[in-house]
Amino acid sequence: MQPVSFDAAYIRRLAKAKHVDMDNLPTKEEIDRKFIETANAKLARQKMRRYYRDSVWSGKIPLRFEFGKWDITKQTDPKRAKELGKQAFVLARQLETQNFNVAMMGDRGVGKTSLALAMMGYLMEHERSGMFVSTAELLRLVGDKYDDPSIAAKLRDIKRSMTEVDVLVLDDFGTEGGMTGNIKPVHKDLQDLMYQVSNARVDFENNQARGVTIMTTNNTKQQLKQMYEGKFIDRVFPNNPAHQLLFEEMKGVRNV
Ligand SMILES: Nc1ncnc2c1ncn2[C@@H]1O[C@H](COP(=O)(O)OP(=O)(O)O)[C@@H](O)[C@H]1O
Ligand SMILES: [Mg+2]
Repeated sequence: MQPVSFDAAYIRRLAKAKHVDMDNLPTKEEIDRKFIETANAKLARQKMRRYYRDSVWSGKIPLRFEFGKWDITKQTDPKRAKELGKQAFVLARQLETQNFNVAMMGDRGVGKTSLALAMMGYLMEHERSGMFVSTAELLRLVGDKYDDPSIAAKLRDIKRSMTEVDVLVLDDFGTEGGMTGNIKPVHKDLQDLMYQVSNARVDFENNQARGVTIMTTNNTKQQLKQMYEGKFIDRVFPNNPAHQLLFEEMKGVRNV
């Protein structure tokens, strides 16, 4: 076979046809860097999907909510509803680049879960991974693991994702401890799981949150301390009032 020879002009024509700028070819380092960036981005996307997939939904039904759907007329105190929606949005923007925990407190049906979902959704659109965990459903799984070995494996995945994910929503935190007035310590296994997860979500060296934990609850901090070890609650419950959303005076919209 005849060896094919390419002259420089031919190569230039080829390059031009392929829109390759021959005068600005990337260096080997640039190609390597680009390759690593692309690989890392792909890995990050895969992780993001895995964390979200490990979410523990109540009744297995994924929920969504966006800030745009927050309707202040649905609440008895529209002025307060507006403030809360704004506070949640401002926090979500801060959490694009910072790590701290957020607590949403108040009665049922006042929109805590909705705003937590809106924050998680917003942050997932801004490259942060998110995971939603219904605490009551998690307790159910923990209780069922002795009957079904596949649940134990699933729980290991869930625990790992809860540890690693950027934005963790702990929904209806405290319902697992019983209703107000009838507070009991939660299942030992759930205590242990939460304790280990919360430990991993603290950067002890710098004394700050690692990632973001957003909890919604019908209980006060004091009540939560009766259900869980105090140290754990101190770790996940934000002290900064700006990081607490107090819905307590709002009436539920579920039955309106
Ligand atoms: N301000 C609001 N705008 C739109 N929908 C709302 C609003 N507040 C509550 N809802 C809706 O009412 C229901 C209960 O809200 P939810 O966020 O689950 O409350 P909570 O978590 O406080 O019990 C949900 O279907 C939610 O989408
Ligand atoms: Mg809720």
